[in-house]
Amino acid sequence: METRITELFGIKHPIICGGMYWLGRAELVAAVANAGGLGFIVGATFDDPKDLRAEIRKARDMTDGPIGLNINLFPSVRPMPVEEWVQIAVEEKIPVVETSGRSPEAIVAPLHAGGVKIMHKVPGVRYARTTERVGCDAVCVVGFECGGHPGMDEVTTLVMIPAAVDAVSIPVVAGGGFADGRGLVAALALGAEAVLMGTRFMATRECRGHPAWKEFLVNASEMDTVYAMRSINNPSRIVKNAVAEKILEMEARGATLEEMLPVIASRRSVVYDDGDLDGGIADAGQVMGLIHDVPTVKELIDRIVEEAVGIRERLDSIIPERLAL
Ligand SMILES: Cc1cc2nc3c(=O)[nH]c(=O)nc-3n(C[C@H](O)[C@H](O)[C@H](O)COP(=O)(O)O)c2cc1C
Repeated sequence: METRITELFGIKHPIICGGMYWLGRAELVAAVANAGGLGFIVGATFDDPKDLRAEIRKARDMTDGPIGLNINLFPSVRPMPVEEWVQIAVEEKIPVVETSGRSPEAIVAPLHAGGVKIMHKVPGVRYARTTERVGCDAVCVVGFECGGHPGMDEVTTLVMIPAAVDAVSIPVVAGGGFADGRGLVAALALGAEAVLMGTRFMATRECRGHPAWKEFLVNASEMDTVYAMRSINNPSRIVKNAVAEKILEMEARGATLEEMLPVIASRRSVVYDDGDLDGGIADAGQVMGLIHDVPTVKELIDRIVEEAVGIRERLDSIIPERLAL
């Protein structure tokens, strides 16, 4: 499977693991690279940029494949050292940076000058156009079902991807709701040149996470997320747990950002690392409903590729080569 994305990023398979705060670390990202894909270490996970640099080097020791860096541009209560992250990307010879949260315009030039390619992740077609205009190399477009930040448009992946493909000429990566070979073939059919998955990669052996959290991911259905925090301009798709219900209830009665902050500031690590499923916010997408096991990253990626080949054969038997009208 060769696409402009596999060529641009120098990867074997058109399969990308999106940056995941707290979870996107050396073990996961190196495993994805070793399996022929691309993953991103998340700068925002590390309070001290020195620790980010050490994590990148740790990943480098675990693979010869590409190690990406996620640069979070979302507004945040904690100041984000974006300039330092850019410097680290250049100095550590990161091949691809994934940006998200707001236009990366200000950092396109320094990253390109340092030889770093940029994939900006957006939750809407108009932002895909901006991504192209400011000079990014690729755009990842995520639909409403995605884990993390689905944006305000509430448009699902099935509509968003072809609309974005029609709107821009840079390669489009499809995100939101992908977990298997069916999704990969569908994304390619829609005109995307790779899939990007987050939630599915959380349920892998190399991803950090308490056994109870991974067991939850395996048993959860597509109904177990909520779309919350739209009222404070920070729409997020998160697991429907006690904290999520509390946030929805506060939003319904018109609570202010100040009132909500103590609840929103609940630590994600309590869920991921301690397995306390109601102890904090946990990002996840509707695609939890398609997760039934916790394989290694290599098993997962190999399986997706094999399934995609099988689906192609099935489609070949359904769709004739030429129409006899
Ligand atoms: C636990 C978790 C943490 C995430 N953290 C980030 C992040 O720090 N930065 C970012 O750009 N996207 C983040 N995302 C979004 C993913 O990179 C990706 O866009 C999304 O998961 C794709 O949708 P899916 O979950 O349906 O596969 C996160 C997603 C999850 C599930």
